[in-house]
Amino acid sequence: MSSFYIKPKIEFGENSLNVIREHNIKKCFIVTDKSIVDLKLINKVLNVLASEVKVEIFSKVTPNPTIEIIEEGMKEMISFDPDYVIAIGGGSPIDACKGMLYFEKKIAEEIGEPHPKRYFIAIPTTSGTGSEVTSYSVISAGKRKIALANDEMLPNLAILNPSFMETLPPHIIADTGMDVLTHAMESFVSKERSVFTNPIALESMKLINENLLEHYKNPKEIKYRENVQNASCMAGIAFNNSSLGINHSIAHIVGAIFKLSHGRANAIVMPYIIDENTNADKYYSLIAQELKIKSSLQLSGKEALIEHIKNMKKTMQIPTSLKDVGIKLEVFKNEIPTMISEIKKDICTSGNPNKFDDEKLIRILLRIYFGD
Ligand SMILES: NC(=O)c1ccc[n+]([C@@H]2O[C@H](COP(=O)([O-])OP(=O)(O)OC[C@H]3O[C@@H](n4cnc5c(N)ncnc54)[C@H](O)[C@@H]3O)[C@@H](O)[C@H]2O)c1
Ligand SMILES: [Fe+2]
Repeated sequence: MSSFYIKPKIEFGENSLNVIREHNIKKCFIVTDKSIVDLKLINKVLNVLASEVKVEIFSKVTPNPTIEIIEEGMKEMISFDPDYVIAIGGGSPIDACKGMLYFEKKIAEEIGEPHPKRYFIAIPTTSGTGSEVTSYSVISAGKRKIALANDEMLPNLAILNPSFMETLPPHIIADTGMDVLTHAMESFVSKERSVFTNPIALESMKLINENLLEHYKNPKEIKYRENVQNASCMAGIAFNNSSLGINHSIAHIVGAIFKLSHGRANAIVMPYIIDENTNADKYYSLIAQELKIKSSLQLSGKEALIEHIKNMKKTMQIPTSLKDVGIKLEVFKNEIPTMISEIKKDICTSGNPNKFDDEKLIRILLRIYFGD
């Protein structure tokens, strides 16, 4: 049995924040991080809230949010008891907010108490995780990164507004943009791909291909910002209805152990996984064809796609291997058993077109470490 659905209503475009004025908000709990406050991005939301709305801001979320931060935020949220919760930020604040709502409900169920309904609005400021339209929340617990999946965590409303992306530094545009490409590509080759998800994933890849490098070079140009933001949300819709793959499983644990940003970890891993996913060769060739990737050498469609992605990474100064990031070989080798065990447990692994045994996974990890 297969299914496809889109839950959150998506408001997009330059005036999209005005939709907040249409809501009768009494108490609003805002989940965000320090940069969003310091850069005054949060003011754009505060400015559209009516003056009588009671507001509490939780801005302690850190990149790759931890279970401890989520617990702290959840306690503040429960004691404030808002009717609206707004998450504003990259994937980290949105996922942290999802975690707060999820655990509040779980605890209430556990002790047999009703839990209050809170209207959940997600406003992404990176492009991005697509978390504003997904039922996933990625939480760090010690060395591990756990991807929770539950439809209860889907926002009620997603607001896309390109004005938030104007302050993004180039390295975050690069990392988060490559995360979008990984989402769309893993959805397109996934075992759970479908006639509904494929065109959305493909259009997302086209938008990234045509706009990401331009956005990286010209963060002030609204056209590129808007296209990359839309691509991010579309990739979220696609993978939420298919699945991701082992690129994400590897990025989750590598990112958690070696403290790499989520998008950067994905970008480093991507060319190697495309190469190893032999069961999806025809889909990768189709992507190369649809993206009109030209290659001067005698390369197959999939080889040309890999070359193209390597060139994108080079332009955006993303390292080619984990060795390039400065990780010591001995340290990396010591973590291999943990990495293998976490990759096998990760929720994204089952959607991958190829299944790899432990020996193969070790070889893949060493390839990603040394580069080629
Ligand atoms: N829920 C999902 O479906 C999903 C999918 C992929 C990844 N994730 C998770 O999302 C997290 C990563 O999210 P992310 O890549 O969006 O990064 P992030 O939220 O961690 O933000 C990265 C940095 O960018 C800053 N930032 C955010 N917006 C900015 C702006 N407009 N201007 C200037 N600086 C800004 C933040 O303050 C932070 O320092 C990871 O934990 C990852 O595992 C979730
Ligand atoms: Fe991702």
